[in-house]
Amino acid sequence: MMRVLITGSNGQLGSEIKELSANYDKIECLFKDLPELDICDANVLSAFITDYNINVVINCAAYTAVDKAEKAADIAEQVNSTGVSNLVYALEKINGKLIHISTDYVFDGNHSVPYKESDFVSPIGVYGKTKRAGELAVINSNIDAIVIRTSWLYSSYGNNFVKTMLHLGNEKKSLNIIFDQIGTPTYAKDLAKTCLDILCGESSANLNNDEKIYHYSNEGVTSWYDFATAIMELGNVDCKLVPIQTIDYPTVTKRPKYSVLDKSKIKSDFKIKIPHWRDSLEDCIKKINTNS
Ligand SMILES: NC(=O)c1ccc[n+]([C@@H]2O[C@H](COP(=O)([O-])OP(=O)(O)OC[C@H]3O[C@@H](n4cnc5c(N)ncnc54)[C@H](OP(=O)(O)O)[C@@H]3O)[C@@H](O)[C@H]2O)c1
Repeated sequence: MMRVLITGSNGQLGSEIKELSANYDKIECLFKDLPELDICDANVLSAFITDYNINVVINCAAYTAVDKAEKAADIAEQVNSTGVSNLVYALEKINGKLIHISTDYVFDGNHSVPYKESDFVSPIGVYGKTKRAGELAVINSNIDAIVIRTSWLYSSYGNNFVKTMLHLGNEKKSLNIIFDQIGTPTYAKDLAKTCLDILCGESSANLNNDEKIYHYSNEGVTSWYDFATAIMELGNVDCKLVPIQTIDYPTVTKRPKYSVLDKSKIKSDFKIKIPHWRDSLEDCIKKINTNS
């Protein structure tokens, strides 16, 4: 039986893994988050991994507040970079494995075709830069590990675009939504299943390879405007959406204009099937409505 530690387990992805993990009998999972287990505390982390005989970590812990990160660069760096180095160091000592989650924000968004794992990275803000530093800590290590970059993550847990749209759509008659940023949403439940399938599947030996980076999002391509339109339709919310340009909605950090990820490698190496974003969105909205 593999003992798996899920760090940052109260976040969107961690919560989805918690819900799905009962279906996997090859693994026993321990779910930890702040304040109980801080990945920035190297000694406590290392002792925990050793004392609890952990074999694998799925690192869902991150500083994810993209705009706040510009003013809190130290904390973002601590969690997204040093924290990951701490995990790598602790796992090196016990020959453990790591699935680490990263982001489309390592790219500047100037592409017009889907980003491959081998494409040049050029993060445009503090969040993306610190996440890239975390990736490098994993890539440059000797442990069996993979980094999964994902994009536009949402879930029935936590705060995210889908829940914000449903909430605001019920309160307001109209909303302005950006139409000139293109990407693919990712239902955290689908990514959670992928992480667990990778660990428990026949292709799990591919965790031990030299090319450690993989891309994962749902299938398909959309804009925030079209995504919001689908949210309103599937959520039966009557709210007028007005398409606006990025320039009309200034944010502290610039967002990548295009961040579609090419998922050929993860599909082929781990023999996984990925649902289309609209089908997964429908599932998530049903769940949100059932819970409310
Ligand atoms: N959200 C997105 O749109 C998106 C897009 C692409 C990639 N990603 C990546 O996907 C992964 C999962 O994202 P998510 O949306 O599930 O994140 P999330 O909901 O923000 O969850 C992150 C969790 O990590 C915890 N955490 C923060 N600092 C920690 C520390 N020092 N030690 C232990 N836990 C700590 C957080 O606790 P607090 O809440 O108390 O801080 C939170 O529970 C992250 O690596 C993220 O960078 C996210």
